[in-house]
Amino acid sequence: MRLPALFPVDPAAIQNGATAGDDLARRLEEGHILFFPKVPFQLPSEPDLDFLRTDLAKMLALKNISYHPPEDMLSGIKGDRAAKERTRAILKEHSAHVRGFLGRVLPRYAEGWSLGKVNWRPIEEHGRPLSRHASNEFIHVDAFPSGATHGARVLRFFTNVNPSEVRVWRSSGTFQELYEDFRERAGLAAIDGARIAEGPFARAFSGVLRGVKKLGVPTELVDTSPYDRAMKKLHDYLKDSDEFQQDARRHLDLEFPPFTSWAVLTDGVSHACLRGQHALVNTFYIPLSHAAAPELSPLHLMRSATAKTRSAA
Ligand SMILES: [Fe+2]
Repeated sequence: MRLPALFPVDPAAIQNGATAGDDLARRLEEGHILFFPKVPFQLPSEPDLDFLRTDLAKMLALKNISYHPPEDMLSGIKGDRAAKERTRAILKEHSAHVRGFLGRVLPRYAEGWSLGKVNWRPIEEHGRPLSRHASNEFIHVDAFPSGATHGARVLRFFTNVNPSEVRVWRSSGTFQELYEDFRERAGLAAIDGARIAEGPFARAFSGVLRGVKKLGVPTELVDTSPYDRAMKKLHDYLKDSDEFQQDARRHLDLEFPPFTSWAVLTDGVSHACLRGQHALVNTFYIPLSHAAAPELSPLHLMRSATAKTRSAA
């Protein structure tokens, strides 16, 4: 089984041009986790971090508090205006720092990415009273119930800002092997790969819907795509399966100490967060036109598996 490996990155080497961005993109797409032993950019000030750690848990209105860079707005938070404004300013600045850093490290991604949200995760993950599908404690690959990716890779950049506690992850390998092993049982074998690849009309619809929502026009329409529905199916199957979750032969546990960062394509590397509190998480969507190895993407793997099944029939 191919378990992800931590690939330590020295930011100084990148600045000197010793580590090429395309090499790092390829590492990510092959299922490695880029690990930064020291946060490679300026973090929020200690008073601001202290505010996030101590004040925001009681202001939480959803699973996480999120800053949305394109709209410059917050969600998942309740409370007084001054605290909301302070949170928005902190997460906005953090978003700019991460973007600036990753833009230097992964320039091929930065040329095409669209910005997802910036999460603040104020609650201890272990034992959180969430539904099984919402809980981070069950191993999964990321999929989104709303907001179609159409196969774009999901890059997430995590920073542990807990001053004393490690953040503990468990992985059970890459999308590729989980898809091979659980395709039938998750009900994905019946999905027609040709339909996974959509035409321009579906993408245009997503663009229009995003625009409508940005304008604040109320709509019941939920953006999705055949690919995103297939990923959600696998996500739910993996979280629901006790047999999979408890299969220790597949387990790799990873510890991320305080004030470290890591980058991972979370659609391609399975993960659960077993323990940890106080993390910042930045999300980016990387179109396959900007991937270093698009053939390793879940979209291509699903399409080629269906093509193989067809030609064998
Ligand atoms: Fe996840």
